[in-house]
Amino acid sequence: MKQRISAVLGEQPVGQKIVINGWIRTKRDTGGFSFLEVNDGSCLANLQVIADKSLSNYEEDISRISTGCSVTVEGIVKESPAKGQSVELHAESVVVVGWAEPETYPLQKKRHSFEFLREMSHLRPRTNALGAVARVRSRLSWAINQFFQERGFLQVHTPIITTSDCEGAGEMFQVNTSSEISGKADKEEFFGKKAGLTVSGQLQAEVYALALGNVYTFGPTFRAENSHTSRHLSEFWMIEPEMAFCDLQCNMQLATEMLKYVLNDALENCPEDMELFDKFIEKGLIAKLKNVVEKEFAHITYSDAVEKLLASDKKFEFPVKWGIDLQSEHERYLTEEVFKCPLIVTDYPATIKPFYMRVNDDGKTVAAMDILVPGIGEIVGGSQREERLEVLEKRMIEAGIETEEYSWYLDLRRYGSVPHSGYGLGFERLVLFVTGMANIREVIPFPRTPGFAPC
Ligand code: 4AD
Ligand code: MG
Repeated sequence: MKQRISAVLGEQPVGQKIVINGWIRTKRDTGGFSFLEVNDGSCLANLQVIADKSLSNYEEDISRISTGCSVTVEGIVKESPAKGQSVELHAESVVVVGWAEPETYPLQKKRHSFEFLREMSHLRPRTNALGAVARVRSRLSWAINQFFQERGFLQVHTPIITTSDCEGAGEMFQVNTSSEISGKADKEEFFGKKAGLTVSGQLQAEVYALALGNVYTFGPTFRAENSHTSRHLSEFWMIEPEMAFCDLQCNMQLATEMLKYVLNDALENCPEDMELFDKFIEKGLIAKLKNVVEKEFAHITYSDAVEKLLASDKKFEFPVKWGIDLQSEHERYLTEEVFKCPLIVTDYPATIKPFYMRVNDDGKTVAAMDILVPGIGEIVGGSQREERLEVLEKRMIEAGIETEEYSWYLDLRRYGSVPHSGYGLGFERLVLFVTGMANIREVIPFPRTPGFAPC
């Protein structure tokens, strides 16, 4: 029976005949046998295959096997006398499905740097660390969907091509046909007006929240900002829940519950991969995440956060005063050194936040919330939305936005408006936090950053 290696190592079907497929990690020959370490991506561990020299294709094939070859092995599962593994597979047949030239195969047994591996996004998932990232990423995606579905949220597929700039920061990639770019186009643009790749599905999610109650989107988003940090991508995935009849408090509560839920899920369901990260990538990672699951998140207003920053002895590159946008160094100081746990910062100045955030009674701040975590800074950004038509219109005009272009968005306030809230969780920032990896380019299969999009 064909089996995945994770099932063989989990169930240990000693005495049974099985078939496995996979890629050779290493091979060594001793005393009339070849020991093949085979990995099929289903788990971190390899299955050791023992191939006897008496096998009919030993000289012709098995003796020539090298790292990277793909194989199909049929054999009997036996208890292993060797340390570190419970069972091994005694081969009755080994078929080489695809050869890998040993002189040119780039993934040799030694450890490669992540920078080196980034240059080969087509082969790096075959390494221990990147394979583990892929499994944890998949699990987190599952857990997020499960979290929302269990609570009755409906998933809405918001568009990738859009004609509205949600964050209003002019960081959109434009979408044009090739003839439009070369100037040969008819007068009409393809969509009749300027279109771009979405920076956020929020505005469209609001449409559905104001019809269906609680919804969420989980899709790719694109930002044309020229950021080269270890926390920014040009293409990243975002989870955006949106809830009708929900204020900032209820929004904060959902975000906190969601983070705790998905961290706990990864710890419970990916123990082997999490141990690898704890051992080789970030010492103490598992304890850190458990602590986040168990402890309350801290909460501070923007104004109080600014007071704390002003009172500290720390020298910041960007000077602090009320009204500035918090920089990564400020966020990290607060969450890592002052609070030492996830921190929710609320009520930012209206001038530094987008038009859709609800204006507070003081007229100066908005009902915004960012969640900051140690090691990363902002992982979640959200707010209560402005549900009052006149206030929203005024804010849009102040921000230089054509209100006619957004008449559909204003209609939501004209007809049956309700208080509503939502947030965006950067999926790669979450994977970064859970795996302890240092650079966001390692936690998305095919990273896109300015000047970089190899395959
Ligand atoms: O704070 P942001 O810009 O919020 C929004 O887009 C809102 N419309 C969300 C909402 O309320 N529905 O982005 C949300 C999150 C950030 O907290 C961060 O985790 C992540 O998206 N993010 C990025 N991740 C990777 N690369 C980038 N360039 C990112 N920009 C934002
Ligand atoms: Mg933000």
